[in-house]
Amino acid sequence: MALTPQWLDELRSRITLSAVVGRGVRLQKAGREYRACCPFHDEKTPSFYVNDEKGFYHCFGCEAHGDAIRWLTDQQGLPFMDAVKELALEAGMEVPAPDPRAAKQAEKRASLHDVTQAAQDWFARNLASCEGANARAYLARRGFSDEICRRFGFGFAPSERQAMKGALGQFDEDMLVEAGMRITVDGKDPYDRFRARLMLPIEDRRGRVIAFGGRILEADTNAPKYLNSPDTPLFDKGRTLYNIHRASAASRKTGRVVVVEGYMDVIALAAAGIEDAVAPLGTALTEQQIELLWRMTERPVVCFDGDGAGQRAAMRAVTRALPLLRPSHSLGIVRLPQGLDPDDLVKERGSQAMEDLLAQPETLLDIVWSHEKDAVPLETPEAKAGLKKRLLDHVETIQDPDIRALYKRELLERFSAFAYPPRPQRQWKSGGAPGGRQRGNWKSGAFAPRPTLSPHTAARLRAIIEGGARDRLTSAVFAGLVMRPNLIARHGEALEQLAAADRSLARVIDSLLDAAEFLEPNDTTPISGIISSPAPPDKHRFAFLDEGSDPQAAAEDLAEAISMLVERPALDAALAAATARFETDPEGAYAEQQRLLKRKLALTARSGEMGSRRAAGPAANEQDEPSPGETADGTETG
Ligand code: UTP
Ligand code: MN
Repeated sequence: MALTPQWLDELRSRITLSAVVGRGVRLQKAGREYRACCPFHDEKTPSFYVNDEKGFYHCFGCEAHGDAIRWLTDQQGLPFMDAVKELALEAGMEVPAPDPRAAKQAEKRASLHDVTQAAQDWFARNLASCEGANARAYLARRGFSDEICRRFGFGFAPSERQAMKGALGQFDEDMLVEAGMRITVDGKDPYDRFRARLMLPIEDRRGRVIAFGGRILEADTNAPKYLNSPDTPLFDKGRTLYNIHRASAASRKTGRVVVVEGYMDVIALAAAGIEDAVAPLGTALTEQQIELLWRMTERPVVCFDGDGAGQRAAMRAVTRALPLLRPSHSLGIVRLPQGLDPDDLVKERGSQAMEDLLAQPETLLDIVWSHEKDAVPLETPEAKAGLKKRLLDHVETIQDPDIRALYKRELLERFSAFAYPPRPQRQWKSGGAPGGRQRGNWKSGAFAPRPTLSPHTAARLRAIIEGGARDRLTSAVFAGLVMRPNLIARHGEALEQLAAADRSLARVIDSLLDAAEFLEPNDTTPISGIISSPAPPDKHRFAFLDEGSDPQAAAEDLAEAISMLVERPALDAALAAATARFETDPEGAYAEQQRLLKRKLALTARSGEMGSRRAAGPAANEQDEPSPGETADGTETG
């Protein structure tokens, strides 16, 4: 194999010209280029420019001009092959062995360009002739103006199998075959590749026609919609992007390059004023195409259909790009609305709709994350671990160590936030540091810590709930407050009364009220670490202790229980006072005592009744006896 233009292009694309020139010349950054005093002539003010994107240097003073190879031959005086070898070493490429037929092939390539250009001229003439009437009507139906058709060089290939042979008779048959224009099959006459198709020339970076795409005009034939030239000495599909020479000029103005899927999308976008678009040629983006794009801009924007196939194509592009990533270089990904290609989109919604999408591309990392997260259901720990593995597998393909480390960190953070979501009740730590409450920022952030109870308070609370010297109503009420801390604040006054009447409860009540101040009213997460078994033993007796009961009913029951709890010491105190008055006012004291005792009995009966209901709805009537069959579902509201 000889040094093909493709090989030399690859070499140039892997070399950063400013780095090569910068070894001998002091370069200053000037916008997208570098500037220096010209090394080829004497000057005081710099007029020598190096452009990495184009891979050329140019002096506006002496017109010295060339690429990296030219720099080494002209400025350093190396022979051509030595310059190539030196650059190849730097680029990590192997120089192909010299080929005696190389010169002949170069000559042939030059003439293959003549073939493709002649074919293009002929296709264009056909379109303008009466043969091209259907094709012209088709283009008009699609809304392509004459100006756009001329700019993109639309043509037409007639249906006869030997039409081109006749029209391009000045070229040998094997030249036409080698240029991809004719097809030979053993034992048969060669025939034209493109027949009865609307033709689109594919041009190289210098605007020379190197291949064609041909579209059928009728939707209902069995032929493939598009037929492309085969790979030829001129045309390497994987290294070519449709419309690259116009788009790279446009991208210098926009600072952007857009990649779409099809020829027609590129043309429709250009017609809508978006001229910096290119398309691969019916294949997924190749590494070489990504490198080409990066020579135009650091973050090309690649568009994909919103459907499943588009998503898979996006992921293919992403996995192609990950190993190639280098600092500042990436791809932006745009997912189009379902069922619309860019052509449809600009026609239906206008170019601004497209511009808006292009302005907000997703990152490669976003795509990796969302693709893998949505790939399979993630209901089990095994499936979640599978997600983690797939994410890390992608990370491992990234060659650049800094980018790899950053991807790893970000993806693992997203994974952790997903697989180990913060559990707010965990942060209701019973063993938190004393004074660990953080006022102020609790409501501001989603992950602000919940208030903590001191270990001492937590232990007291646990003792109260677990019974000890306490009665069942007290235990139940405190268990209820722990399970439904969002209800604490509304009982502030009653609880303060309780604290005043029973000093042994005062500290715990104060701590609960303090903590509750920081809670969102709709935060229903229980305080953790207090109730050791999943549900307190009285769950079936007090509705508010049953996690499953209707929140409204539970809140009402708790309110009643608290009021009874508050009333009871008050009642006891009143009874004691009445008893003390016996000496002075026996009749009055007795009457008062009876009234208070009656109330106390009623209270005890009520609390017993309350505790014996099985997590029922709100109390309908104090006199109602619970019937044996009543269940948690008996939510009559009376
Ligand atoms: P699409 O089918 O999306 O075509 O194929 P399109 O660009 O929207 O064209 P219209 O609007 O129907 O005219 C996208 C690209 O896939 C390649 C072509 O490069 C095409 O531009 N392709 C498609 C083929 O190579 N062969 C086919 O048969 C179909
Ligand atoms: Mn289309």
